[in-house]
Amino acid sequence: MKRVLSGIQPTGNLHLGNYLGAIKNFVSMQNSYECFYMLADLHAITVRVEPKDLKENILSTAAAFLASGLDEKKNIIFSQSSVRAHSELSWILNCTARVGWLNRMTQFKEKAGSNKEKASVGLYTYPILMAADILVYQATHVPVGEDQKQHLELCRDIAIKFNNDYGKDFFNIPEPIIPDISARVMSLRDGLKKMSKSDESDLSRINLTDSKEQIVQKIKKAKTDSEPINEDIFNEKSKRFEAQNLISIYADLKSESNKKILSQFEGKNFSEFKKDFTDLLIEYISPISDKIDLLRKNEDHLLKILKNGQEKASNVADKTMKDVKNIIGLSL
Ligand code: TYM
Repeated sequence: MKRVLSGIQPTGNLHLGNYLGAIKNFVSMQNSYECFYMLADLHAITVRVEPKDLKENILSTAAAFLASGLDEKKNIIFSQSSVRAHSELSWILNCTARVGWLNRMTQFKEKAGSNKEKASVGLYTYPILMAADILVYQATHVPVGEDQKQHLELCRDIAIKFNNDYGKDFFNIPEPIIPDISARVMSLRDGLKKMSKSDESDLSRINLTDSKEQIVQKIKKAKTDSEPINEDIFNEKSKRFEAQNLISIYADLKSESNKKILSQFEGKNFSEFKKDFTDLLIEYISPISDKIDLLRKNEDHLLKILKNGQEKASNVADKTMKDVKNIIGLSL
């Protein structure tokens, strides 16, 4: 059996990095796998969020899932907090994971910044909840961007240790699915920084809800260099990080290789490339943005999909919890 689980934090607008790094793979896997796609709302509260914003973000992210091509009839779409087994298994896996393993997580170091003492404990133990999300469904494949790779490795370590500790081949060891081209889409303002929801500058990212005018503006302002487009861009020593990023995004949207796009624009400068790039982005993003708008207006429809997803996901997750409790001696 091939089963997929993945999730996205409902923390505001999804961006092109989320789309190319994760959602595009979610969509392509929906026809050949049994897929569970989750709004990771328990992950979203590891930092302070206004309750009304969280609620809005859960619904708008659900709308973005559907608008990007996820079919609610083919996939189980649900919110993490609506399935209790995630939190329950997370506690048990807290007792399997080692402090030393968590201390190696680079994303915690980045997110907590210089003031680790003030970070929430949830931000620190978040990768264990993520392992629970995956293992509670016995997922075989997990499509994610590269920034989640270390968390996936931790998840595998936890599953292996649990199996060893209890002498059972119980948890499946999941495989990450990371895209070739867009594993790490970079900021439009700084080719060394990841495109991110938390970047202060909205000019750094293309949101799935951006209007045509916003896309035009953002690409106009996107950082490039004054050299013409040539093969040198992907040469390690060239340090043309912004150029690499734009060419890669273009290639991925076109489902072509970087090499093909480089030869198409060989010798041209970036102002010319940007015209085509803007058109391509608008062609791609505008229909998604329009659909998000439309779907978001039909709240009952979204709630129905999430309720249905909750029921189906809970059935699978509750069964795993029952087995886990049996294995560790918690079922009387
Ligand atoms: P999150 O919400 O930060 O990101 C959602 C997905 O988008 C990918 N991504 C990117 N890919 C390429 N380039 C970028 N600039 C970029 N930014 C984000 C992420 O890698 C991710 O795949 N902890 C997860 C959510 C989660 C989860 C899970 C994922 C919770 N439980 C279980 C998989 C399985 C997160 O915060 O993703």
